[in-house]
Amino acid sequence: MCGIFGYMGSSNAPDIIHQGLKRLEYRGYDSWGISTIENGKIKTTKDVGHLPEKSPIESKSVSTGVGHTRWATHGGVTITNAHPHYSTDNSFVIAQNGIVENYTELKKSLENLGYVFKTQVDTEVIVKLVEHERKSSKTLRDALVKAFKQLDGRNTVIVLDSKQDQILAIRNGSPLILGTKEKDVYLASDPLAFNQYSQNIVEINNGELIEIKDNKYKIYDIYSEKYINRKPREEKQLDIEINKGDYDHYMIKEIVEQKGTILKSTNYSQKELKPLVDRLKKSKSIYTIGAGTAGYSADQIAYYLRKIANLNAISIKSYETESYLNLIDKNDTVIAVSQSGETADTLEAIEILKKQGVYISSIINMPGSTLSRLSDSFFMSNAGSEICVASTKVFTSQISFGYLLSKTVIGKYKEAKKEIYLLSTNLEDFFNNKTFKQIEKITKVLKDKEHFFILGKGQNFHIAQEGALKIKEISYKHFEGFAAGELKHGVIALIEKGTPVISIISNDSNVRDLISATQEVKARGAITIGIGDKQDENCFDYFITVADSNELKSISNVIPFQLISYYLAKELGNNIDKPRNLAKSVTVK
Ligand code: F6R
Repeated sequence: MCGIFGYMGSSNAPDIIHQGLKRLEYRGYDSWGISTIENGKIKTTKDVGHLPEKSPIESKSVSTGVGHTRWATHGGVTITNAHPHYSTDNSFVIAQNGIVENYTELKKSLENLGYVFKTQVDTEVIVKLVEHERKSSKTLRDALVKAFKQLDGRNTVIVLDSKQDQILAIRNGSPLILGTKEKDVYLASDPLAFNQYSQNIVEINNGELIEIKDNKYKIYDIYSEKYINRKPREEKQLDIEINKGDYDHYMIKEIVEQKGTILKSTNYSQKELKPLVDRLKKSKSIYTIGAGTAGYSADQIAYYLRKIANLNAISIKSYETESYLNLIDKNDTVIAVSQSGETADTLEAIEILKKQGVYISSIINMPGSTLSRLSDSFFMSNAGSEICVASTKVFTSQISFGYLLSKTVIGKYKEAKKEIYLLSTNLEDFFNNKTFKQIEKITKVLKDKEHFFILGKGQNFHIAQEGALKIKEISYKHFEGFAAGELKHGVIALIEKGTPVISIISNDSNVRDLISATQEVKARGAITIGIGDKQDENCFDYFITVADSNELKSISNVIPFQLISYYLAKELGNNIDKPRNLAKSVTVK
């Protein structure tokens, strides 16, 4: 949710900031803004919608600036509301990633003091608060600290100050990472934003302020009021290429990459897994936690831990942790699942659980994330950067890891590795023109429909839910995924002639139930589509046969949903990699 970027260095600042914001656009693309210091004055260029492909600012002799890409929280999507926001005397600008939760109260008291607001965004409250505190502070830094301490919520702000020719930033909750290289200093919401220039990163913690001046940085603890000496560390895992290759969209590239990423995410030795495996065996209960797609991963991992490893595993949605808190203690283990490692709902749950003394292990894809630093142990999904807002390869990476973990608990590590390898090989064959054409053809039938239902059971229940989420996100059609057993308890009332129903059919103990459910909707006129490895000619109007796998059917079954999502959105002319209203990293609640 919102990306922030700052740069001071020897290269052309507008170009560097533009490139950085392009890489941060997955965090929000309602509007963007770039501010630079030129001849002692701040110059700002802003617009609504996506950043242009080429840098919109021509200047070649500018070395300092900040930028922001917005996911709107308070205030409509307008140029006025686009960040950064100017101080009344135009001497500084501020951009924010987060929400000022006490915005209404603060705005009212500032208005009572005579401050006039020009925008509808909560960030303007920060600007006015800093102006107000500046009157009684020695420096802008002190004023910023005083203002910042009055904010409620998870907010990280960046300030460009033309008077002192400096950049200031403070972090609370929303991520902030610093990068350095010789005379260049970068600040960003994630390290991939400056990865092409620097892999030397400095992690910034909550309550820390960064001062960048004369091409040097200082870290200041706003509570102890002392400077901190923290040297950069090299983050090798950042060496990730970000391009679409021969593909039209990141989404299809990332879907096809799954044949390799399921191997990378499970490239852990038994020795590396042992500490967590030993802990799980001793734990009273295991709680898996996540939100959105990562929430469905958490569901599926808990399913594997129960079904394969016979452990008492319970999945909780990050944003619904509260009612479980009194049940979870230090005899339990929590497994947090997150692509970004920055999701506010997940971080907040983990922060509380950590205070309760609970052991936290995480599965994360983004190197250097906050969640990795909060966790007692963590495993990287190693899926590489996932640029498309809708998660595909990271979902299968997470659940493949969960599968390996569960099999390792029962001493079947080698068997799991073999199965994952076999699936990877079979996926190689699955991703071919014939598959793509078949799915494209089915989406032509679906494109004029509005409501769709997906049935799953057992290993495929959460796959039905994730499949529905994936298609909703990009096609904007109403897809609902649920347990096939639920059908007769209400949902069947919605089935009429021509309603598409997708059944996930695996050759397992639930196959008969799924066939019966499909027959029931077919009898009421539904268009029936099967996905799986058990074709039944009397049952289905269309059938997508998945890549062959033994116990990893849930992984092969989710992939056709990702492809339906892609081709349906393409058919509908939607923005595939950046669907409306969404952001990849949800750092606000
Ligand atoms: C959906 C999607 C989101 C994320 C969710 C959690 O395709 O990507 O639902 O899964 O916002 O994000 P992370 O995994 O970063 O915690």
